[in-house]
Amino acid sequence: MSGGGLDWTSRPAGPLHGSVDVPGDKSVSHRALMFGALAEGSSHIKGFLEGEDTRATAAVLAQLGVRFETPAEGERVVHGVGLHGLRACAQPLDCGNAGTGMRLLAGLLAGQAFDSTLVGDESLSKRPMRRVTEPLARMGAQIDSHDGLPPLTVRGGRALHGIRYELPVASAQVKSALLLAGLYAEGETEVIEPHPTRDYTERMLAAFGWPITFAPGHARLGGNHRLRATDITVPADFSSSAFFQVAASIVPGSQLRLAAVGLNPRRTGLLQALRLMGADIVIENERESGGEPVGDLVISHARLHGIELPEALVPDMIDEFPALFVAAAVAEGATVIRGAAELRVKESDRIASMAAGLRALGVAIEETPDGAIIQGGRLGAGRVESHGDHRIAMSFAVAGLVAEGPVTIGDCRNVATSFPGFIELANGCGFALAAAE
Ligand code: S3P
Repeated sequence: MSGGGLDWTSRPAGPLHGSVDVPGDKSVSHRALMFGALAEGSSHIKGFLEGEDTRATAAVLAQLGVRFETPAEGERVVHGVGLHGLRACAQPLDCGNAGTGMRLLAGLLAGQAFDSTLVGDESLSKRPMRRVTEPLARMGAQIDSHDGLPPLTVRGGRALHGIRYELPVASAQVKSALLLAGLYAEGETEVIEPHPTRDYTERMLAAFGWPITFAPGHARLGGNHRLRATDITVPADFSSSAFFQVAASIVPGSQLRLAAVGLNPRRTGLLQALRLMGADIVIENERESGGEPVGDLVISHARLHGIELPEALVPDMIDEFPALFVAAAVAEGATVIRGAAELRVKESDRIASMAAGLRALGVAIEETPDGAIIQGGRLGAGRVESHGDHRIAMSFAVAGLVAEGPVTIGDCRNVATSFPGFIELANGCGFALAAAE
């Protein structure tokens, strides 16, 4: 054990079979809480992610005077207080591990009449916030940080004005922070992205009745309207399904069905990457649910080969690289990843975390500033560190399935931030995964 955390051991196992219901989408759950809170009336959220990240956002909104009901697990009724109904809270607002929570709330709080302080855990306290504080300052906000890092003190009572902002890096969090501040701004707020990112904020604002114009890579709205409560059905999180997509692809004899997975095109880059590597993934029952495309994924084992990952796919699979690294490590030949420097500022430096872990399992991997070159081959047994990063932990749980012996993964507590119940679901379809305190 290391760092007082919870270690996991993943043993060689399989084949994987059955149907897996992965939990609700994290991005959609965060936004549903925030827009529900600012709306007039009560919004019923179904498929809500009961993760630590999204619960932290709910707790922050409750501190600001929003009332929630939990009629059942995975459901919330949000009693909206209207655009100007939040109340000051003298205590720090704890976003936990959630970059999405902190960055979106920074935009939302910039428009309030009162001051607030946003804090986070050790990992979040190291993540760059200038990407939101700088453009928000251009809108008239005043946000104090510790040299660009949390805590953030958001000063209230500032008159915001809309800006036209070209994002230097593709980031749905930054875009969303500006649009949230834009709700409170005089004039129009316009955001232009270098590559289109997930558009849940835009879609949800429209669903809550706010006039907004958007297209891939572009969004524009004006201030001074109202949000009307609406019911939200959250799709299953594509990012959580990624671990099972890779697992079923690499374990011989496997076939898994992943039900009702969100297939927003800004999220499905991994599916395309795996298909380029030779994966056998079929989409069935494609349909719309709550304004989002969803479908069932049927994944069968296939022999994967290395690829040069098209850079254009990077923003559409930004959270799926840890899982892709594992697929690449067992594929035939080399996989080359470029244009993914953003991975270095996620819950951990995901290029460094994956490179260190794969090397510990005997994989030849070369780190580059914005990616990696991974030579596929066999995975040995050994011990790896998650660096407190949920997606690194789950990716090495997948690696253990096809390793030559047990893979022990250090400090897996944070899996609960995005994927409560991962061990049970994984073991239910054929993993041999155990936790030890
Ligand atoms: C998210 C956007 C992405 C993603 C994160 C969720 C969102 O972050 O990595 O897990 O919900 O807007 P960036 O905007 O930093 O790329």
